[in-house]
Amino acid sequence: MKSQQDRLREAMKRLALTRDDFAARLGVTRRALDTWLLPDGSKEHRAMPAMAAKVLAELPGARALPAGLRERITPRGKPHLLSVEQFDRAAVEDLLAVAESMEPIARRAKVTRVLEGAVLANLFFEPSTRTRMSFATAFCRLGGSVCDTTGFTFSSMAKGESIEDTSRVIAGYADAIVVRHPDQGSVARFAKGVHVPVINGGDGVGEHPTQALLDLYTIRREFARLGKKVDGAHIAMVGDLKHGRTVHSLIRLLSLFKGLTFTLLAPPSLEMPGDLVAHAEAAGHKVRRAASLKDGLKKVDVLYATRIQKERMSGEALETYPLDFRIDKKRVDALCQKDTIVMHPLPRDGTPGSNDLATDLDNDPRLAIFRQTDAGIPVRMAVFAVLLGVENLVAGSLRDAPWISPPRIGSGDAPFHRLT
Ligand code: NCD
Repeated sequence: MKSQQDRLREAMKRLALTRDDFAARLGVTRRALDTWLLPDGSKEHRAMPAMAAKVLAELPGARALPAGLRERITPRGKPHLLSVEQFDRAAVEDLLAVAESMEPIARRAKVTRVLEGAVLANLFFEPSTRTRMSFATAFCRLGGSVCDTTGFTFSSMAKGESIEDTSRVIAGYADAIVVRHPDQGSVARFAKGVHVPVINGGDGVGEHPTQALLDLYTIRREFARLGKKVDGAHIAMVGDLKHGRTVHSLIRLLSLFKGLTFTLLAPPSLEMPGDLVAHAEAAGHKVRRAASLKDGLKKVDVLYATRIQKERMSGEALETYPLDFRIDKKRVDALCQKDTIVMHPLPRDGTPGSNDLATDLDNDPRLAIFRQTDAGIPVRMAVFAVLLGVENLVAGSLRDAPWISPPRIGSGDAPFHRLT
């Protein structure tokens, strides 16, 4: 059995972390880590507590990457990612393990060229900032290149070309295709006739599978720091649960775990679709509906806020949205726990009276929204690597990144933002 010092040193090297960042990743002080790294005979040496040893054993790369994941999530021989329904629990855990293995690249400490020569077609027929950019940069960070088209105006769909023709044409040019489209089911139509991987980047009010994967990845990382587990967690979803495709995918994905409580906070006209509630209940979870934040946010582990999807509503539906579901610091302080994490798929609507997530929590460590957006990179890298069958080539291909990167990304980041 390797010594505690060797195991710690190996993990720190594998993840390309400084001692400070590594201590934060383990959820301990730098001082504690220093004492664990001292030789056994030294007066100051301490043995690692069981909890820290467990976190260490679960760090990326601590276990071998799973084999055959592509076939397990795409069983019918078509390598597409269209819905979170393609995952069972083991497959989602394995995909997230692949994402963890991408962290040194996502953190810009390492580079790889495993997808050198491959081309991604990024087709966005609806507005997008983070999904489009993070799919593109994830592909580039694996060594590939990206072509894209945005909106209908500049594509031949404006000339009446069908989804099927467009898809066959693009599949002849690219090695993977990401599609965002306003109509539910349209990305599945796009994928139907082609054999290069098509990934759903959001199909109307349908699904947004990679967002749910990165949301789950974020929840697991936050929970690891807080000593919590996804099984048994209490998740509140707030806002437009009828049109929000991110919550549609997330409730399904979380339903793969055990014994969750979902509290759904939405006005009567914007409630979570009944089939998704029934799906969660059939999987053994408790689903509660609450009419106000005051009733719904007690003892929640995750508060997942969403934007009102105005673009998917008529004027009437908007007027029937009288309830005040604005999430701000005062309310989170008054209603939530000290360790509740606050998430949002973003963008948040910053217009006055928007009922969305306020900015006054931005420096509060409970707000995980930028750790959540950052998670889009390793998770989307993992999706590409698995669908293109290169996930086991990455570790052997890593080189040090030669350029200088800032130790922290945003000025408002909490001290543990760079947790990985
Ligand atoms: C979401 C989307 O497009 O569904 N954004 C995203 O991809 N992160 C949420 C939204 O637009 O409100």
